[in-house]
Amino acid sequence: MSQQMQRIALASRPTGAPVAENFSFESVAIPIAKDGEVLVKLHYMSLDPYMRGRMDDAKSYAAPVAIGGTMEAGAVGEVISSNSPDFQPGDFAFGMFGWASHGCLPANQLQKLDPNHGPITTALGVLGMPGFTGWHGLNTYGKPKAGETLVVAAATGPVGSMVGQLAKQAGLRTVGIAGGAEKCALATEKFGFDICLDHRAYADANSLRKDLAVACPDGIDIYFENVAGKVLEAVIPLMNPHGRIPVCGMISWYGGAQGADATLTAPMIWRNILVKFLSVNGFIIMNHFDQYPEFLKQVGPMVAKGEVQYIEDIAEGLENAPAAFMAMLKGGNMGKQIVKLI
Ligand SMILES: NC(=O)c1ccc[n+]([C@@H]2O[C@H](COP(=O)([O-])OP(=O)(O)OC[C@H]3O[C@@H](n4cnc5c(N)ncnc54)[C@H](OP(=O)(O)O)[C@@H]3O)[C@@H](O)[C@H]2O)c1
Repeated sequence: MSQQMQRIALASRPTGAPVAENFSFESVAIPIAKDGEVLVKLHYMSLDPYMRGRMDDAKSYAAPVAIGGTMEAGAVGEVISSNSPDFQPGDFAFGMFGWASHGCLPANQLQKLDPNHGPITTALGVLGMPGFTGWHGLNTYGKPKAGETLVVAAATGPVGSMVGQLAKQAGLRTVGIAGGAEKCALATEKFGFDICLDHRAYADANSLRKDLAVACPDGIDIYFENVAGKVLEAVIPLMNPHGRIPVCGMISWYGGAQGADATLTAPMIWRNILVKFLSVNGFIIMNHFDQYPEFLKQVGPMVAKGEVQYIEDIAEGLENAPAAFMAMLKGGNMGKQIVKLI
């Protein structure tokens, strides 16, 4: 019998928030590396909010995962066999291997990692796709200037914490929004936010806006959009003329807008964009990977020196990935959500 590996497949498509029945844990044969391919035993995989979108059969910037297909994920691990001169057994690599214990990909789709340059998990978070997203979105569309005020929600996650720290270093007042007192303490104490508001403590956008106005006495110049919903509704009227809104994510709406996250209206948004001359830029980071080497060059040394801090929340075992994923979508993660596979 061929050697077996484990994977998690999409069993059915969720309606609203995903449930355990949407995932199936399976054993399948370990693939054999073909010409130019590399077989990797995976050590850690990433869980990211975008995976919720891949579970829907809806037209988007990327194809959905097929029913029965392996859930998509970036992962890091050790090469166990290689049919490419670029990788040797024992090398470490990052690739889009999926929710699985092993993965096989063409060498040209892999990024070689040097474990001597820091923990390989950083390739999934602070120095991987999410950290790069924060850096790119802030600098390219946020255009931060010293003395301005920035607001970002999901402030302790890998995107929000990168945005907050880089903005602080650029001389901005940084206002975080996060879920719960513990995350708010982390935002100010570890990630240097000037202040952090707990969005869960507010019943609606109007009450959140009152405290946000106090936290932002000079208004808001950059709102880095991660969550939409109640937070966006609170922020928009506080934007300053010529404010910038990099639209990175809208996690409060990923399972369908509900309750206080569902009261924002298009006329309110549209009018504020018009009368405040706001620049609103959506972006998908996979279209900008030509800038990834520059990001690593700039931010890699800052992470090594501790000038950019990060935290990782590591769940144990592939079988626990669905629970960790479902929890993350509701704010159950404390920092970058990762799954340890071995
Ligand atoms: N455009 C792109 O290419 C791109 C790339 C990467 C990520 N993103 C987006 O960036 C955002 C942050 O990603 P991340 O990886 O850093 O995630 P993350 O912060 O690790 O996890 C998501 C966080 O969203 C917050 N959240 C969930 N429901 C919320 C709600 N109703 N209201 C307010 N906050 C809510 C929770 O934090 P709290 O407990 O603090 O509320 C949760 O921990 C996501 O929207 C993601 O889709 C976009």
